[in-house]
Amino acid sequence: MDRQTGDSGTLPPINFFDLQAQQARLRTRIEQRFSNILDHGQYINGPEVAELEAALAKHTGAKDAVAVGSGTQALVMPLIAMGLGHGDAVFLPAFTYNATANAVLLASATPVFVDVDPDTFNMDPENFAKRIEDIKKRRNLRPRAVIPVDLFGTPADYPAIMEIAEANNIQVLADAAQSFGGRQGNRWVGSIAPVTATSFYPSKALGGYGDGGAVLCDDPEMADMLRSIRWHGTGSDRKDSVRVGINGRLDSIQCAIVAEKLTIFDDELTRRKEIAAIYESRLKGLCRLQARPDNTESGYGLFTVAVEKDRDGVRARMQEQGVPTAIYYMNPLHKMPAFSEFPSSDGLPVCEALADQVISLPMHAYLSDAQAHFVCDAFEKALKG
Ligand SMILES: Cc1ncc(COP(=O)(O)O)c(C=O)c1O
Repeated sequence: MDRQTGDSGTLPPINFFDLQAQQARLRTRIEQRFSNILDHGQYINGPEVAELEAALAKHTGAKDAVAVGSGTQALVMPLIAMGLGHGDAVFLPAFTYNATANAVLLASATPVFVDVDPDTFNMDPENFAKRIEDIKKRRNLRPRAVIPVDLFGTPADYPAIMEIAEANNIQVLADAAQSFGGRQGNRWVGSIAPVTATSFYPSKALGGYGDGGAVLCDDPEMADMLRSIRWHGTGSDRKDSVRVGINGRLDSIQCAIVAEKLTIFDDELTRRKEIAAIYESRLKGLCRLQARPDNTESGYGLFTVAVEKDRDGVRARMQEQGVPTAIYYMNPLHKMPAFSEFPSSDGLPVCEALADQVISLPMHAYLSDAQAHFVCDAFEKALKG
């Protein structure tokens, strides 16, 4: 990999993501893939689908992987397979992308928002336990499932969340749209929770050149059901509908691209970790870094910190120095019109505070050390006003 060096005066422009540099590295191989697909002509359900599924299972340690049309479908389809519907409560953090809540509503269940931890930015297990008790007291909903989200790449506190879920007979579906490559103990994301959804949106750490996603799971029955649901609910003969389903397939071209990118994923992950190590050592003490639960490694889908004040000013001053940043997320879900009818009984103060504090820095495998240091210099200057 090209690790450009240079001083701040001669640095190439800093991109927030850099899909072009990655494409230059893979272009010949991807063009060969396109050519193979044009030759065999199986645009749907070509051999690339099974190839990607096997590669994903091998990479993550999951027993099976089911490629689907998007990360959102990878959330909706397991909820359908779990038999969720009206009157079922699904717990999720309010500080996440809107797709997590949309998936719950598309599966006809009810989202119950949980607050996050101020240090990890992920679901607070204590607040999860409290929300279950609230729902049990209200008696109008059944607690059925929880979707911990691995925000910015850091796996949620699965040991604590899964213990609470098990004690309450609640199913666990991990939203790992941002955390492919993360790890907890000796398990990769994809084999930590019983069912895991991930996204191949182009800017994800493992992304396609269009929409895509996958469900990773250990239960062969769940995998069979997902393969049926993604093909309009048909049986294995693809004739009669045996359940309600959708068009949830991932086409051969996207599967080929993601499979090709998976071959360089570990190398890219190593580089993202090196960039994160520079950021973490330089920014410690200047802002709140995202903490990781014990024995947990981030996949660094994003690198996000929290600043106590003037977040938007910091961002503007970084932009003036040529450093792009982004805000994920400006608003917690319960403050969005589509989800405001699902308020939480005693508020979600940490989600609300984080929405005003977070700032994501450039993070990709094609940043040089010098560029990473330049980002830190710019952040330090921007903090001073
Ligand atoms: C946390 C989270 N969940 C779900 C999704 C949905 O993925 P997709 O855009 O592939 O549908 C995303 C995508 O950005 C996400 O960040």
